[in-house]
Amino acid sequence: MGEEAKKDEVAPRIKVSKDGPYLVSGNVPLVEQLVISDEDGVPCSWKEGRRYPLQRSYALCRCGKSSKKPFCDGAHAKAKFVGTEKGRGKFAEKGTELFDGPVLELKDIRPYCSRARFCHRGEGIWKLTAESDDPEARRTAIEIAANCPAGRLVLKESSTGKEIEPELEPSIGVTSDPAREEEGPLWVRGGIQVEGADGFLYQKRNRVTLCRCGKSKNMPFCDGSHAMK
Ligand code: FES
Repeated sequence: MGEEAKKDEVAPRIKVSKDGPYLVSGNVPLVEQLVISDEDGVPCSWKEGRRYPLQRSYALCRCGKSSKKPFCDGAHAKAKFVGTEKGRGKFAEKGTELFDGPVLELKDIRPYCSRARFCHRGEGIWKLTAESDDPEARRTAIEIAANCPAGRLVLKESSTGKEIEPELEPSIGVTSDPAREEEGPLWVRGGIQVEGADGFLYQKRNRVTLCRCGKSKNMPFCDGSHAMK
């Protein structure tokens, strides 16, 4: 086997299977990630929970029906889960808004939103970006964007146009919000390639969230449907 083929074999990858689970390969670490909220109930940080034993490949539930979450136990077949990928067309530039500030610029790619609500901190990241010549506002805005699991919020330095992204190892976070007793999406980190059931290659991103409740209208991405009662 050539060097390139070997590299491909071990590269972290998530394959969306038709009406079934996410097939993860490439020794991707899997770890619980818990939302920590401030005294006002606004999410402000993440706490790492259980680390699952490292596996070369595994299948993660995307229908929300497994009794062995986060892993697939085959319940999708009995539930006749339909997991059609509908979100693809919505991620064009028209879904992106730009907000200018004195030191920071915010790229807000709304279709990626998983409603994690970190952006509500400090009167909102949009206001903090507008006030980014203030060091405290700037620091909080950068923290908020880095905590946004879906990568909806991307900050740039106004002077250079350079994106300010946290360094994330390829890994998957199984998110939940204990205060709200809510299971969240899969937080895919570090530029793992996500491939659609038909072989479509989604844009590799440092942060993105995948639906694991089976209700998203933006599949395979989370659209916050898990949080809608
Ligand atoms: S995708 Fe298989 S049990 Fe949910």
